[in-house]
Amino acid sequence: MVSKLSQSALLAWYAETKRDLPWRHTSDGWKILLSEILLQQTQVSRGIGYWLKLVERFPTPQSMAEAEVDEVLLLWQGAGYYSRARRLHALARQVCLPSSEGGFDGVLPTASVQLLQLPGVGPYTASAVASIAYGEPVACVDGNIRRVMARQTKSVNPSVKEVDHWAEKHLFKPDAGDWNQAVMELGATVCTPKRPKCDDCPIASSCSGRHEATSYPEAKKVKRKRLDLMCELRYDSSGLPQLVQRGENGILAGLWGPRMAEHIEIESLEFIGEVKHVLSHRDIFVQVWLGHCQNGIDPETVALSSLDRKILALGTGN
Ligand code: ADE
Repeated sequence: MVSKLSQSALLAWYAETKRDLPWRHTSDGWKILLSEILLQQTQVSRGIGYWLKLVERFPTPQSMAEAEVDEVLLLWQGAGYYSRARRLHALARQVCLPSSEGGFDGVLPTASVQLLQLPGVGPYTASAVASIAYGEPVACVDGNIRRVMARQTKSVNPSVKEVDHWAEKHLFKPDAGDWNQAVMELGATVCTPKRPKCDDCPIASSCSGRHEATSYPEAKKVKRKRLDLMCELRYDSSGLPQLVQRGENGILAGLWGPRMAEHIEIESLEFIGEVKHVLSHRDIFVQVWLGHCQNGIDPETVALSSLDRKILALGTGN
C-alpha cells in the first residue's frame, strides 16, 4: 500500500538538506531568472561560477541592456548553448523598453504570463521565476520533476499533460517557490536517473515505483546526430590565429572562431588532426587544417566556444 504524498515531509526535507546555492540567498527576480536560464542546460556545479560572474557584471536588466551582446557572450564562454546568452540580452533590452513600445520600463515583470512573453522564457522558466521570486502559486515542470512524478505514479512514459496535472495537483500553494525547488532538488539529489537513493527519500511511502525505480520513466531514445566539419586554422607571423565572428544562426551563432564549414578548400593547407566535441544530442567531428594569414586576433579578447578552444589547443600543440 502506498500512502498520500506528504507535502510537509518533502518541505521539511528540503529545508534541512537543500544545497547552499548562491541564488538561494536572493529574492531578486532578475538574479533568479539568470540562475534558471543557466540551469536549463548547464550543471549546477558549473553554473555557480557563471552566475556569480553574470550578477556581478549585470546586476540589473538595465546594465545588460546597455551592454553589447558580445560582452554577454564573453561571460557565457564555455557554458554552451550560446543562443541562451543572445536571447537573455534581447530579454534585457525588451524589459528596458517603455511600456508604450511593448516593454516593461526596466522592471522585470512578476507574473508568469508576462514573463512568458519575453525572449528565451518558456513555461518552465516563467513558472520557476514567478514562483521562486514572487510566490506565484504556479507549478513548474522540468526533467527532475517528471522523473519524480513517473516514479511516484509508476508511469513508464508520462505525457506533458499528465506531468503538468500531477505537478498542479501536488503544488503547495502557500510556498510554491520552495515546493517547486524541493521537488527539483529531490530529483537532482535523491530521485536520480541512475542509482536513486530511495532509503533517503522523504516521500518513499507514497512512491508506487519505489521497488523498480529505474524502470520509470523509460529512457528516451534520442538519436544522436553526427556533424562533420572542416576547419581552417590560420596563424599570422606573430602566432595569433585568424578568427571570424559567426553569423546570427546555427549552434555557435555570434561566437568567434577559426573558419569552419562542411567543406573548405584545402589547397596549401596541412592536415593536423581531428577534434571531437560532444553536445547533448550531437557529436561534432572537426578536421583541422593549418595555414597562414595576415592579421590574427588575440583569442583572449573575444568569445570562443569550448570547441574553438580545443581546435586552437591542437594548433598550438597544447
Ligand atoms: N534546477 C533548476 N532550477 C532549480 C532550482 N531552483 N532548484 C533546484 N534545482 C533546480
